[in-house]
Order: sequence, then C-alpha cells, then structure tokens
Amino acid sequence: MEILRPGTGNGQKIYIETYGCQMNVNDSEVVVSILKKEGYRHTENISEADIIFINTCSIRDNAEQRIWGRLRDIKQYKKNNNSLIVGIIGCMAERLKEDLIEKEKLVDIIAGPDSYRELPVLIRTASDGSKAVNVELSKEETYAEISPVRLGKDGISAFVSIMRGCNNMCSYCVVPYTRGRERSRDPETILNEINDLVSNGYKEVTLLGQNVNSYNFNDDKGNQTDFSELLRRVASVSPELRVRFSTSHPKDLSDEVLYAMRDYNNICKSIHLPAQSGSNSVLKLMNRKYTREWYLDRIGAIKRIIPECEISTDLIAGFCGETEEDHKGTLSLMESVGYSFAFMFKYSERPGTQAARNYADDVPDDVKTRRLTEIINLQNRLSLASNKKDIGKIFEVLVEGTSKKSSSDMSGRNSQNKVVVFAADNEKPGDYVYVEITDCTSATLLGKRVKK
Ligand code: 5AD
Ligand code: SF4
Repeated sequence: MEILRPGTGNGQKIYIETYGCQMNVNDSEVVVSILKKEGYRHTENISEADIIFINTCSIRDNAEQRIWGRLRDIKQYKKNNNSLIVGIIGCMAERLKEDLIEKEKLVDIIAGPDSYRELPVLIRTASDGSKAVNVELSKEETYAEISPVRLGKDGISAFVSIMRGCNNMCSYCVVPYTRGRERSRDPETILNEINDLVSNGYKEVTLLGQNVNSYNFNDDKGNQTDFSELLRRVASVSPELRVRFSTSHPKDLSDEVLYAMRDYNNICKSIHLPAQSGSNSVLKLMNRKYTREWYLDRIGAIKRIIPECEISTDLIAGFCGETEEDHKGTLSLMESVGYSFAFMFKYSERPGTQAARNYADDVPDDVKTRRLTEIINLQNRLSLASNKKDIGKIFEVLVEGTSKKSSSDMSGRNSQNKVVVFAADNEKPGDYVYVEITDCTSATLLGKRVKK
C-alpha cells in the first residue's frame, strides 16, 4: 500500500501529459516529485484524474497547434467531472500567459517553467474556483535538490537537468523568452542525484541543458566547475554508467570537453551539435555567433580527438532571406560532416522573437517544403552511409528491451547512440552485450551477439 505523506493533496490524483523536448520530460518528473511531497498521487489513467496537467512546448507553431487540439479533447473529461482541474504548464503557459485562459475557458491553472514549486498553492486557488496564474521567471531556480520521480518505465536511462534557460538569443528561437536566463545547477546536487540513480540500478544518464557547454557553477568558496569538469566528475561515479549530454552550442564546444570524452570510456562517443544552416549569411541573421568555417573547425577537432565519435545535428529549412545558394550551403555542410542523424525543421516564425520583429518570413511555404525534403533525402543517404561503415565492427550495446518489430529480437544502443538490433538470447534490459554488425538500414544497425 502506498503511504501518503501529509499535505494538502489528500490523495488527489494528478495526470500529466508532456510535449516537446527532453527538458520538458524531466520537468514533468520534477512536478510529480513536488506534488507527491504534498500528498498528491500520480496516475497514468487520465479518466481517473482529479487534476490534469499538460506540459507544453512552443518551439514551432505546429507544436502549439497539437496542444490546442488536445485541449479540445480534454473538454470531454471536464463535462463528465465538474470539479476536474486543468493546468497548462511549461513554455506555452509562459508565452501566452493569461491569454490562454481567454482563449480556452477550460484552463484553471497557468504555470511557467520556473513556478513549479508554487503548484500546490495554485491548485488550492483553482479548487476554490478562481483562475490561478504564475508565470514569473527566475534568475536562480534550478530545482536543485528535488529528486525527480522517474516516469519513464525502463529504470535504465534517466535525464538529469544540469542547467536551465538560455542566453543565446538565436533570432528564430522562443526559448530565451519562455525559459528565461541561463543558470547552472549546483554540481553537488547533480552528483547526489546521479549516485542515487546508480544505486537504483540505472545504467545511463543524459545531462540536459539548452547549451550544456556553457555550464558554469561558482560556489561560496570560490570554486568553479565548468562543463568539462562536471563531465569528468559524473563519469567517475561509476564505470558502468553511460554518460550522454544534450545540447551543445558550437560556439562553446571546447577541446577540454572533447578531451574529457576521450579520457572516459563511459562518456558516450556521440555529439549533438546543431548547425541550423551551412550559410554564413543565414547564420549571421540567425545570430548563431559562429561561421561555417568555425563550425567545421569544431567538427575537425571532434574527429581528431575522438575519431570514433558520431555527430548529429538540427537544421532549419527556409529561414528569413534564405536563397537557393544558402540552401545549397546547408546541403554541402551536411555532406562535409557526414552526420549520422539529424532533426530537420521548416522555419516557423515565433511571435516576439528577433526574427519575427526584424525580418520578413519571406521563403514561400512550398519552397520551404521542397528544401526540407531535399535535406531529409540527403540525411537518409548520409545515415545509411554512416551505418554501412559500421558493418563488421563490434560494439558494446546497452540493452533497452525487445525490438519494436520482432519479439524474438532485442534492441539497444551503442556508445555512438545508434540503435542496434540482434537475436534475443536471455538478455535483460540494462545488460551490456557485444554485437558484431552484419547489416543495416538507414535507421538501425543489425548484428549478432559475440563474446569479447
Ligand atoms: N522554427 C523552426 N525550428 C526551430 N527550432 C528552434 N526554433 C525554431 C523555429 N522558430 C529548432 C532548432 C533547434 C531545435 C530545438 O528546434 O533547430 O535546435
Ligand atoms: Fe534557442 Fe539558440 Fe538557446 Fe538553442 S541556443 S534554445 S536555438 S536560443
């Protein structure tokens, strides 16, 4: 039987649905942790919920449209249960503030990413029949000492936030407005959380931040911890624990970080390094603060210091003023780097950003679509080429579970973050096994288990 802690929750059931990035996934875990301490219970069944939270994303217009659609579905639940409380939390709450309630009467609570500690108070206000709003951003909040309640079921891999917010002000991006200024979390609390994860059998952590390379924590005694130092400390917790991180900004990716990756076997040999564009004039309008040449220099450093490292990226098609020449620059950059994987998007204008205020969204939608298709087609080719070069190699694979396609196969990842599928032979999720690659698709490596 679950023992309820004293608090205002009184056993009421919270259901939480998460949209958007890994940071949001982790924030939902922080929210559940805060509310459980107050005596609320978490449910995965929306129809038995007393309170529904939607943790939202504003990064592109289609992300917001999906959430509006979902809110229309949720009206049904409110019809059946008059006292049901609906809360919108996260980036869309921060971006739209009270306007959300204007547009959608169903909503009772609006809470931005820095006001989750206030949720118990906001719930109380909403229970009394008032609308409850807190969208204050903070310069300090990192939820440092809160242990997130792990909602992912595998018990193997966990996200650990190491910082919040972003100071980069890329001109297309809404994140600095919805998540506020950058701040780093105390490394001691990060290490405590990771030690707990290891004692609970976790085998992989992904350190999260909008720009992890600018992680920097100064304590009261004048000690400074930068990202390379944090990586070394996290990797030293246990050689059995895989360490990943996301996302890196090319302008801040230092050789020290690459040396840390080289020196520790358990720091995974995979870097997600969003390029966004391969054209210098577009990069300048995007306010990315690096050039194509700088980016390629960083790629050169990765390949020199960690030859076995795979590189993935984010790309935007059809940013303001992007010409055919600029687009070709993106394609040629992709060829030069040989990405193993990419997230690829059409530019979506976000109200209030520098780009929305200063530049015309002047690439017609059909042209954006065509350019995006060319980028996707090229990436499929590059992913296949990257996978083909792995045929014949032997990788250590962390087993995640049975393969989605066949229950007689297991699936896991290698250090390079590629999915590896092989015939099952009594492996359990969390086991490390060696697999020799015999075949591949553009998305998956296929192989057979070997002894090493
Ligand atoms: N339009 C399209 N893509 C965007 N991204 C961020 N803002 C926008 C936007 N307005 C992409 C970037 C970023 C990723 C998380 O989302 O590629 O790296
Ligand atoms: Fe947005 Fe740029 Fe910050 Fe990434 S680095 S969150 S793209 S402003």
